[in-house]
Amino acid sequence: MEWVYIEDLSAHIGKDVEIRGWVWRRRSSGKIAFLNVRDGTGFVQCVLEEKDDPDLFQRVSKLDIETSIIVRGRVVSDPRSPGGFEIRLNGVEVIHEPIDLFPIRKKDHGVDFLMNHRHLWIRSKRQFHVLRIRHRIIRAIRNFYDEKGFVLVDTPIFTGAIGESAGNTFELDYFDYGKVYLAQTGQLYLEAACMALGRVYNFGPTFRAEKSKTRRHLIEFWMNEAEMAYYEHEDNMRLQEELVTYVVRDVLENALEHLEAIGRDVRKLEKVTTPFPRITYDDAIKLLKKKGFNVEWGDDIGGDEETAISEEFDKPVIVEKYPRKIKAFYMQPDPQRPEVVLCDDMLAPEGYGEIIGASQRIHDYDLLKERIEEFGLPLEAYDWYLDLRKYGSVPHSGFGLGLERTVAWICGLEHVREAIPFARTLYRVYP
Ligand code: 4AD
Ligand code: MG
Repeated sequence: MEWVYIEDLSAHIGKDVEIRGWVWRRRSSGKIAFLNVRDGTGFVQCVLEEKDDPDLFQRVSKLDIETSIIVRGRVVSDPRSPGGFEIRLNGVEVIHEPIDLFPIRKKDHGVDFLMNHRHLWIRSKRQFHVLRIRHRIIRAIRNFYDEKGFVLVDTPIFTGAIGESAGNTFELDYFDYGKVYLAQTGQLYLEAACMALGRVYNFGPTFRAEKSKTRRHLIEFWMNEAEMAYYEHEDNMRLQEELVTYVVRDVLENALEHLEAIGRDVRKLEKVTTPFPRITYDDAIKLLKKKGFNVEWGDDIGGDEETAISEEFDKPVIVEKYPRKIKAFYMQPDPQRPEVVLCDDMLAPEGYGEIIGASQRIHDYDLLKERIEEFGLPLEAYDWYLDLRKYGSVPHSGFGLGLERTVAWICGLEHVREAIPFARTLYRVYP
């Protein structure tokens, strides 16, 4: 008998197949047993009438959830069953019976309990769908760049130069070298790479020792960054819009069943088309004041403020040209107004906050050196970075997209901890 995956059942209607998986749910109504099996690609209901095989019926009626089993039976199409198929069971082989009761059995476990059992929780239906959507989002991001001719450049995790800000680094000792940091960003290395390869991107884990316990912050999160030689601020924003539109459309086309299974209102995602609304930081502050926030020009825009801004729009909104004082050292000043920089943040709709941070980079040697010193960063660690402004320096721009916030938004999740397989948050590194 042929071993097939549940996601491929439609190609096997009327045939006898074998499925290798786990008991998801079991119930019986009188003389019929329903065994719901999952195999990592999907869920399918297997049905057996007692009269057809009383001995098998007895064995099936004893199976507990998360027993690993190989089931055999005939695939029939049945519009009433979820997925549209059913297996008429004619054999079951138990591979492993749980030693204890599977701990996740109720609908109302608390978040802490579920996070403590994350290694098992990911077997749940909702988590299955979310992780499949995350996978599709990653694939779409890579496809976007690959189709455009960008080159993937993997940037290092151990870095001597702080890439973003000094406040929230993880430090460790690196042999004789001394202190190094876990990467907050791969940007500085992508800047080097774009001068060699034109347009480049990376995709990797980044680390921030942030003391923020919010639904948008992780300590370890995945970021996709892009860096483009000869791109200026406008080109940069256009590319970001294109990327986000591409990803949303791709997920709607290729993971719709998963979005629907977790109850996502996909009409909201269908609205994501270019161009996105753009406002300046100045206007964002005016808007926030009008909405009753106690903010002044020069203040950073926090989570609640981001939510208030995004509420005004039904697409992602781009906020551009922040005061240079509240942004990173490497951002290019606006030639018309040197107190602001040519940067932008993209805020997701529905209160999911900043999904992209972006800017044009300083390409002038003297100005960059001045900023490194002004920010109190050690010049020696940035020697190589300054070299990029010594040899063939050109205007260039780039951005970073936070993967988990993007997943949380597209899936409609309450918290980023469910947007990553194993979350690291302020109070959690287990499991
Ligand atoms: O805005 P950020 O800090 O930008 C950078 O790191 C730039 N160097 C990127 C670049 O231009 N190449 O971070 C980028 C994005 C944010 O917009 C947010 O979506 C996400 O990364 N992010 C986080 N996601 C989860 N948890 C955290 N603690 C995050 N910090 C940032
Ligand atoms: Mg940012």
